[in-house]
Amino acid sequence: MEETEKAERKKVILSGIQPTGVFTLGNYIGAVKNWGKMQDEYHCAYFIADLHSLTIRQDPAALRRQSLDAFALLLACGIDPEKSLVFIQSHVPTHSELSWVLSCYTQFGELSRMTQFKDKSARHADNVNAGLFTYPALMAADILLYQADMVPVGDDQRQHLEFTRDIATRFNNLYGSTFKLPEAYIPKAGARVMSLQEPTKKMSKSDENQNAFITILDEPNVIINKFKRAVTDSEKEVRFSEGKDGINNLMTIYSVFTGKTMEQIEAEFEGKGYGDFKLAVGEVVVEEPREVRENFKRYIADKAYLEQVYRAGAEKAAAISARTMTKVKKKVGLLASL
Ligand code: TYM
Repeated sequence: MEETEKAERKKVILSGIQPTGVFTLGNYIGAVKNWGKMQDEYHCAYFIADLHSLTIRQDPAALRRQSLDAFALLLACGIDPEKSLVFIQSHVPTHSELSWVLSCYTQFGELSRMTQFKDKSARHADNVNAGLFTYPALMAADILLYQADMVPVGDDQRQHLEFTRDIATRFNNLYGSTFKLPEAYIPKAGARVMSLQEPTKKMSKSDENQNAFITILDEPNVIINKFKRAVTDSEKEVRFSEGKDGINNLMTIYSVFTGKTMEQIEAEFEGKGYGDFKLAVGEVVVEEPREVRENFKRYIADKAYLEQVYRAGAEKAAAISARTMTKVKKKVGLLASL
């Protein structure tokens, strides 16, 4: 088979991350770590979802800085611009353009049912803006523009992926085959890393309590200390079972980094206390962030390189996404300009 033919059959993978803070261990295990692994096998596109961040009020200077940091961090986590398409969402106007069209095919009722909308509007009751409400239409546009086959995300994005499939199906039924139906790719372990302080809550980069999350740039001693302070329960046994949210979370993290099963972990820590276990979790986690931190320092010091990579990425993303956008415009009845 010709090399080009083989390349054409590769599946398209796409995913994004918001620049609202340094990536957490949750972002890393649930999503970004897997993105790097998929680069050799598939056509991958990864981007910084800065437009999505505008749904919560941001300090403009901080958002600019964080977007560049997040872009450097993506590269530091092993996303290679020679292999993957990497860009910043707002640099590619088709995302906003398709988002508007899709929002006209989206019902008020279905957006009202989105759990992330309900959570975020409760947390930011003074700013329940239209963007927060139509957020899933922008996310659907991100995905459908590139005809993505698979979207590697954490568990919290499952509903948004279902919505994307629904809207794509609706559009295809109305206008004929236009969008590929994407599938969520959710890891078996680590798809929902919990807060270290309130283990019934998701670990989040915007949590006010710094001890609740580990970031991928935390120093080893900070990581160890955060694990030492992790909230567990009043028992003593390292056992994976219902109601032991803190321990279950730590066991999941340990399992992701060591490849051990829950049974193996239970056997390893039999007769040992939570203190020993928490320390062991910290120790297996520190290595990967150490590498990421070193790479990050190198990338962020070279602004010219970052600029060159994101410019080239935007140009390529614009060209690829324009194919879908042109089709959509024609199908819905917008008069062609050229
Ligand atoms: P964001 O920035 O909240 O999170 C980025 C990725 O990290 C995953 N994640 C987690 N995984 C496991 N445990 C956690 N505690 C945890 N917290 C976050 C998320 O599931 C996600 O995969 N709307 C998206 C960004 C986005 C996007 C897209 C993603 C915009 N357009 C198109 C895919 C395709 C978001 O806010 O992710």
